[in-house]
Amino acid sequence: MTSVSGEVFSTILGVGSFLPSRIVRNADLSSYMDTSDEWIRTRTGIEQRHWVEGTTSTTDLALEASKKALENAGVSAQEIDLILLATTTPDHELPPAACFLQRKLGVAGIPAMDIRQACASFVYGMSIADAFIRVGKYRKVLLVGAETQSKALDKTTRGRDVAVLFGDGAGACVIGATEDPFSGRIFSTHLHTDGNHAEDLWIRSPTFAAESERITYGMLEQGDHYPQMDGKTVFINAVKRMPEAIEEGLAANGMKLEDIDLFLFHQANLRINEMVAKKLGVPSDKIFNTIQQYGNTTAATLPLGMDAAIKAGKLKRGMTVAMAAFGSGFSWGSSIFKY
Ligand code: ACO
Repeated sequence: MTSVSGEVFSTILGVGSFLPSRIVRNADLSSYMDTSDEWIRTRTGIEQRHWVEGTTSTTDLALEASKKALENAGVSAQEIDLILLATTTPDHELPPAACFLQRKLGVAGIPAMDIRQACASFVYGMSIADAFIRVGKYRKVLLVGAETQSKALDKTTRGRDVAVLFGDGAGACVIGATEDPFSGRIFSTHLHTDGNHAEDLWIRSPTFAAESERITYGMLEQGDHYPQMDGKTVFINAVKRMPEAIEEGLAANGMKLEDIDLFLFHQANLRINEMVAKKLGVPSDKIFNTIQQYGNTTAATLPLGMDAAIKAGKLKRGMTVAMAAFGSGFSWGSSIFKY
């Protein structure tokens, strides 16, 4: 069926994910730093996370997730018009990690770009894919979220407030054009940033804002190349902004909470998500959390969660989903779609 107006919509054609096989349990972290399973579990809900080994990079994980999403969509890599790779842990500073992913997929020539909006990257990516498709520029977009956060962490007691939170993994979606207004489709996306909080969750260096070298021995000694976070400020803002973004999405579509079949929130901390759910008034059986098993996988969190929800039978075709993310920047947003 085609829309009367000839309008084009974006639809999720396929989803896939990949996790490295090495599992690091909370108790295992005690060999790196002064921490405990009890501290991590009670404050964050995290029980374990997956960490890569050896030289495995973000685009290695992204490739595996992409292959699964393409297979699930019944689409070949050669049919893709645009690659969007959401990541905060690119293989190299230059070129964008998407270039390596494109090479691994063997599809030289099509545009490939990174999205660097930290934990909100996947929602930003959905918005970009949707906009390109709806204006008729591209018909098939591969949107991937992938991270090797384990390589960015200070795994000593100095960095324990951040190091225990993060995991590695990748998730991908093939988003395609449809003229059928009744098929699964992205209804709307809503994006926000408040740069006033830029330093509340950041990596100070390497920095091109430095006077001379962008990384020095002094910076390395101070641990400026590791993520630093004001955890309480992140918490306070996350529990404010994610409900706001969901409510904005519902209002834009004339929907009520009851119209949503499944809520997928960014997975930074189980306590954040419980508070978001409470503020919104969402029953727990409509929320799908992965943080217990995966930790916070930043840009990979939402597509990993989608794929896990599909495999668990919690996300089925025809369901209406509300997705929300919040992270460094601060950047946040939501997406309302029918799967
Ligand atoms: N193990 C043991 N003790 C620890 C650890 C650890 N891994 N980390 C910190 N501590 C200690 C601190 O040193 C401190 O000790 P002190 O009292 O002797 O000084 C004590 O625990 C309490 O530290 P707080 O920072 O006050 O702990 P808090 O209760 O605030 O919890 C946490 C910290 C879990 C990070 C919390 O602030 C939080 O959930 N913040 C949200 C941020 C978040 O989830 N960020 C993820 C990335 S951002 C994103 O994705 C949106």
